[in-house]
Amino acid sequence: MAGSNGKVVLAYSGGLDTSVCIRYLQTLHKLDVITVTVDCGQDDDFKEIEKKAKEIGAIKHVYVDAREEFARDYVVPSIKANGLYQGKYPLATALARPLIAAKAVRIAEKEGAAAIAHGCTGKGNDQIRFDVTMRALNPDLKIIAPVRDMNLTRDVEIKFAREQNIPVSAEAKKYSIDLNLWGRAIEGGNIEDADFEPPEEAFQFVNFSNDKAEYLELEFQGGVPISADAKQMPLVDLIQYVNDKAGSHGVGIVDHIEDRVVGIKSREVYEAPAAIAIIEAHKDLEKMVLTKHELAFKRMVDDQWSWLVYAGLWQDPLRADLDRFIDATQVRVSGKVRLKMQKGSLRVVGRESKYSLYKNDLATYAAGSSFDQSLAKGFVELWGLQSIIANSVASAAAGITDKNKKGGKK
Ligand code: ARG
Repeated sequence: MAGSNGKVVLAYSGGLDTSVCIRYLQTLHKLDVITVTVDCGQDDDFKEIEKKAKEIGAIKHVYVDAREEFARDYVVPSIKANGLYQGKYPLATALARPLIAAKAVRIAEKEGAAAIAHGCTGKGNDQIRFDVTMRALNPDLKIIAPVRDMNLTRDVEIKFAREQNIPVSAEAKKYSIDLNLWGRAIEGGNIEDADFEPPEEAFQFVNFSNDKAEYLELEFQGGVPISADAKQMPLVDLIQYVNDKAGSHGVGIVDHIEDRVVGIKSREVYEAPAAIAIIEAHKDLEKMVLTKHELAFKRMVDDQWSWLVYAGLWQDPLRADLDRFIDATQVRVSGKVRLKMQKGSLRVVGRESKYSLYKNDLATYAAGSSFDQSLAKGFVELWGLQSIIANSVASAAAGITDKNKKGGKK
């Protein structure tokens, strides 16, 4: 009977995978299921989710409002790191997983559960993010992943759900969605054909029929956005404000081929208007206040940071080590950036900072520049020294110089 093997805490989203997991954990593993839904800004009907969990058979449901924590401890470091996997994906799902896993572990400990469960498949990255975080935080908890363990496919899950009277949403039949404050991932269905353009109905935030151009001003302090359009707002509100505004101009769609950790190349479609706009602005401000040496080095650090987070290694000490470097660079990343958005395009059209290294009197082509051009001649000669020597050595080795000399004598 259910419960004879004790309790399990299941990270529960209310979606197809985790809903069928409740039933599998009860019937196959004979466990009492406690569901945990962690709110990272997915804007779901959490009362409905609780109701659904209990109807399927959970003995207890826990809701955790982690929106502020998610913004402060996960999204902010990612903004500072310009977090984009393979230069494109703003890491929304990847950032939320370690937080959801940490909450589930704490609840399992509190409830005296011996096991912890998630609904990830064995083909994706999420299993890595969940497993690694769970084991790093409490290696004594047994991890159960029914979808992975039984090699389930979505079609089999939908069939099982029907047989078991587990409700399946209309959306779940079309796509697999993962949503939080930082973005929305759309997978499966017709967009698995890499050559098929995602239909407009696949998107939730992005408006395709607004031609108007509009400006968005973002103010950063120490690398963190603190106001939008001159209004100071708590981070969660600011991200939502930017998401709505940029999305209303069609900004924020990412469609690319992504390398999963397990070796699969997948076609990924995201909409993340806030992430795309904020990172674009943040990068631009960094270019104004950091030296070219800092920028070149930080680009490598940012890439490594994004890779670690994508690959489920949030718990690796290297991530925290990189955060310390990144934090040190952010002290001067304060100022304002003005973005212009229209019909899906986004560009920075202005920026200002009290830490600006851009000096107009140096850069100007107009009269009155403080830059002494006469210094440039010698600099250029030394700058190109090795390149010039290398070319003449290569020419000599090829005998070109000799031939030219003979030709010249005639
Ligand atoms: N490819 C993205 C990632 O690895 C999105 C994953 C979406 N997850 C999901 N369960 N639908 O982060």
